[in-house]
Amino acid sequence: MGGAVASPEQTLPLPFPPYRGVPAAELEQRIRAIKDELGDQLLILGHHYQQDEVIQFADLRGDSYKLSQLAAQHQNCRTIVFCGVHFMAETADVLTRPEVDVILPDMGAGCSMADMADLDSVEAAWTDLGEHIDTADLMPVTYINSTADLKAFCGRHGGIVCTSSNARAVLDWSFAQRRRVLFFPDQHLGRNTARAMGIPLNEMPVWDPREPLGGNTPQALRASRVLLWKGHCSVHQMFRPEHVTQFRQRFPGITVLVHPECTMSVVDAADLVGSTEFILKTVEDAPAGSTWAVGTELHLVNRLAAENPDKSIHFLSPMVCMCATMYRIDLPHLAWTLENLAQGTPVNIIKVPDETAHWARVALRRMLEVK
Ligand code: 13P
Ligand code: SF4
Repeated sequence: MGGAVASPEQTLPLPFPPYRGVPAAELEQRIRAIKDELGDQLLILGHHYQQDEVIQFADLRGDSYKLSQLAAQHQNCRTIVFCGVHFMAETADVLTRPEVDVILPDMGAGCSMADMADLDSVEAAWTDLGEHIDTADLMPVTYINSTADLKAFCGRHGGIVCTSSNARAVLDWSFAQRRRVLFFPDQHLGRNTARAMGIPLNEMPVWDPREPLGGNTPQALRASRVLLWKGHCSVHQMFRPEHVTQFRQRFPGITVLVHPECTMSVVDAADLVGSTEFILKTVEDAPAGSTWAVGTELHLVNRLAAENPDKSIHFLSPMVCMCATMYRIDLPHLAWTLENLAQGTPVNIIKVPDETAHWARVALRRMLEVK
């Protein structure tokens, strides 16, 4: 979780025990009171994977793309409390004016995929690649699920950020300028997107940062169009093609809808693939009586089922595929951050260093202009 600057005073005192064991109804009432008191100075943003107890307090919700747009548009508030994970709060900090503080209610809310690529490894890969291919013709593309310093790396090298909702448009933009793409950290989003564009698998080698030359031969690198960083989301890896088969057997006519962080075999077996916002809209707009199996994080799917009782909505995996870090944002942490904010002692401020923020903003703005 590089890129965050939070002084020890900001992360102390710990929110507990004063907040643990307090009845939910009381915490909810205290949170509401602070929202009323702070009014337009405070904006609470919430990602679709947040728990119900938290998302109910979000002024606006969205997928990673929409939340980035919302942060960029809301320049008049004083504080954004980001109910999501660390890279999302960093992105909001980069896209807002310096006077806006962005707060993450629990600093432990990271993203294991984002942790699979770090600046040193990407810079080392770039240097190694330069021995065999022309890096002036290589576009660095980072999934938004990455640290701010990797976004800055892309900004410095003419590159760009993508999300699960605009990866195709970003790759089109990239290939209009350069012959090859280095895509990190999620190999699955990169592979699923590039394959849908007609790029064959043998032109998409995986780059394993622990192996010399990423585990590739110089010939394979020279033949490549997309180099896929060896990263993944452990939540979405748990969906399997056999789960799709089982649902199709149980419910003939079911529509299977998955997130593009799922493996290629799951995406191939599914009917539709898209970001969390796409998943929500698609099911909401579907006719009453339709049946769905959805392959993404559990809290989103449970809420979707509760909010669409006229449809039959199933979770695609028999396992509990829950994002443990998104789950860290809970009522006690939200109440703790809001009460400290109201008392003038804000905690857990996410502040990306200026130089990193500048170049990360370059890459993020390119993304926002592409779509
Ligand atoms: P979305 O951009 O589709 O919301 O995805 C974010 C994420 O982290 C999925 O795991
Ligand atoms: Fe990261 Fe996966 Fe959680 Fe999304 S679901 S925030 S990619 S660990």
